[in-house]
Amino acid sequence: MYKQLFSKSITAAMLTISMAFVGPVSAGEDQPADMERLQKLLQQQISLMKPELQKKVKALSPATKKSLLKILSQHSIYSERATLRQVMQEVLSDYQSMVAGVMTDNPEQASASALRIANHRIPVGGLLPYLGIENINDGKLAALEGFNDSVEGKARELAKAADNNDMATASSLVGEIASGCVGCHVIFRGQPGISNLLK
Ligand code: HEC
Repeated sequence: MYKQLFSKSITAAMLTISMAFVGPVSAGEDQPADMERLQKLLQQQISLMKPELQKKVKALSPATKKSLLKILSQHSIYSERATLRQVMQEVLSDYQSMVAGVMTDNPEQASASALRIANHRIPVGGLLPYLGIENINDGKLAALEGFNDSVEGKARELAKAADNNDMATASSLVGEIASGCVGCHVIFRGQPGISNLLK
């Protein structure tokens, strides 16, 4: 309950923050401290970007910015040095641990691992610097929120199912989470480690 209220007010705060891209930010009402913290984080992320990326980010539509801020507001751990690749390796470890929990009828392992996926670290500079400059446009980024919902959202559902000892439901969510991972990779990643020394 508290969590829901908290996340709602953060989302509301983030919508206000989205104005920071285009104009002044009004003061937050119910979570001023967090709003200030998130606002700083966002400005910090943008300040780390090279001018060509900053330009692309500033050109995004208000709707895209809102969805980016919504995704950001659902995370609370921000790294000052981890890259997206490093975060993804950690997410993969948590995914494997989550599946191990499901397969060994260990709801505590499944639930804790799923929650770590849901609140994975945000890499230094945010997600955008790692998605490829050709993908920083409204069309491509429109897909992000869906992937976020299927990975983070379904991971939270899986944790809940595991907490209720409902491993049948938990197992059915594993595939949905995997589809979210793979769907995002199809658009934003491609095959890892391709060599430019091969013909
Ligand atoms: C928001 C989109 C998105 C989602 C969702 C996503 N990934 Fe990724 N993932 C990426 C991108 C982009 C890269 C490439 C990062 C790079 O090379 O800088 C990547 C790379 C990876 C890599 C390769 C890292 C390397 O060393 O090259 C692994 C492993 C990975 N993701 C696992 C996962 C798993 C497991 C999930 C789901 C639980 C997941 N990812 C969900 C976008 C996503």
